[in-house]
Amino acid sequence: SKSYTLTLLPGDGIGPEVISVAKNALQLVGSVEGIEFKFKEMPMGGAALDLTGVPLPEETLSAAKESDAVLLGAIGGYKWDNNEKHLKPETGLLQLRAGLQVFANLRPATVLPQLVDASTLKKEVAEGVDLMVVRELTGGIYFGKPRGFGKNENGEETGFNTEVYAANELGIDHVGCRVIVVENNNIQFVVENGNASMLWRKIVTNIASEFPDVELSHMYVDNAAMQLVRNPKQFDTIVTNNIFGDILSDEASMITGSIGMLPSASLGASGPGLFEPIHGSAPDIAGQDKANPLATVLSAAMLLKYGLGEEKAAQRIEAAVFDALDRGYRTGDIYSAGLKLVGCKEMGEEVLKSIDSKVAAA
Ligand code: NAD
Ligand code: IPM
Ligand code: MN
Repeated sequence: SKSYTLTLLPGDGIGPEVISVAKNALQLVGSVEGIEFKFKEMPMGGAALDLTGVPLPEETLSAAKESDAVLLGAIGGYKWDNNEKHLKPETGLLQLRAGLQVFANLRPATVLPQLVDASTLKKEVAEGVDLMVVRELTGGIYFGKPRGFGKNENGEETGFNTEVYAANELGIDHVGCRVIVVENNNIQFVVENGNASMLWRKIVTNIASEFPDVELSHMYVDNAAMQLVRNPKQFDTIVTNNIFGDILSDEASMITGSIGMLPSASLGASGPGLFEPIHGSAPDIAGQDKANPLATVLSAAMLLKYGLGEEKAAQRIEAAVFDALDRGYRTGDIYSAGLKLVGCKEMGEEVLKSIDSKVAAA
């Protein structure tokens, strides 16, 4: 039978709560599909800082590199917010993404029929939204140099970052684009009015010309932010840089009802993919069994599909999520009157029941 090694990085805050749910779902679906998962849990983020003094221990990165795929909960928290830059949980996350060279980050935002009412947008605006933000993940302002925090020659305090992209970085993005192009035919390419954007425009236009089925249009990021809430259905695939992708995907998540619903897949040209919900460690609700685990469960489905090519197992997980929602179970972030309000654990149990009952019915 098939066997995969998965690195689990629970991290901080609600991370361990949502990872535990996703792990159970993977295990159950594995037993149904005859797939063995060997889980290797490693410290990451604030948890790793407390344990080892660094946010991404070498052992964690090498375990991740050696595994078939990596599933991350979330990192960060008040406790480490005032740490020096290199000792922040967030720095560990950037090191992990860079270390795995996962440059293409897929963040699908789909308004599920069950959750139309959970959207803050009017029903007719939100209904049927199904878009994908493709975020460049290992370049841009997050990694550009020079960068710093200190004093300038006049003795004034300064902080600065550099938005820089090299043509070859966008060249490898080509690989990421191919993955998407299979499923979508209308791509909005979001740029700002800056110099790095000129390179993006040139390279993306060149790449798009190789795909006659792809209809490419350009949009400035400020307009894109506005258009996302005005008429989100006009979007299919949004290809954008690291920082705009971060911001626009949080915005898109709310259209679907909650940031607690949005999964992601980060892929490179080769090697294991990294799969994580787009939300953070939610320190405001951590440890209270209130987190919505579905973004992480759906990230596990993306892991099966994009990371391992286990399409059937992925579909089982997605179907179980829909079924638990159909049966009326809701965590607080997606709750509306008349439905069944549950915590993180119970939502997880309902997903497991849905996996079981679909198997029994087949
Ligand atoms: P956040 O995403 O953690 O939380 C924003 C809001 O959304 C909070 O009110 C939170 O309760 C809610 N929320 C988030 N996930 C939820 C879920 N699954 N279910 C229900 N509600 C949910 O963003 P933040 O508050 O800006 O950041 C908190 C910490 O997380 C910071 O340290 C930040 O750096 C870190 N962070 C980490 C990641 C990551 O690990 N990939 C992503 C974003 C932020
Ligand atoms: C995300 C987060 C991270 C990012 C932070 C925590 C560094 O917001 O995964 O979306 O900006 O990429
Ligand atoms: Mn983010």
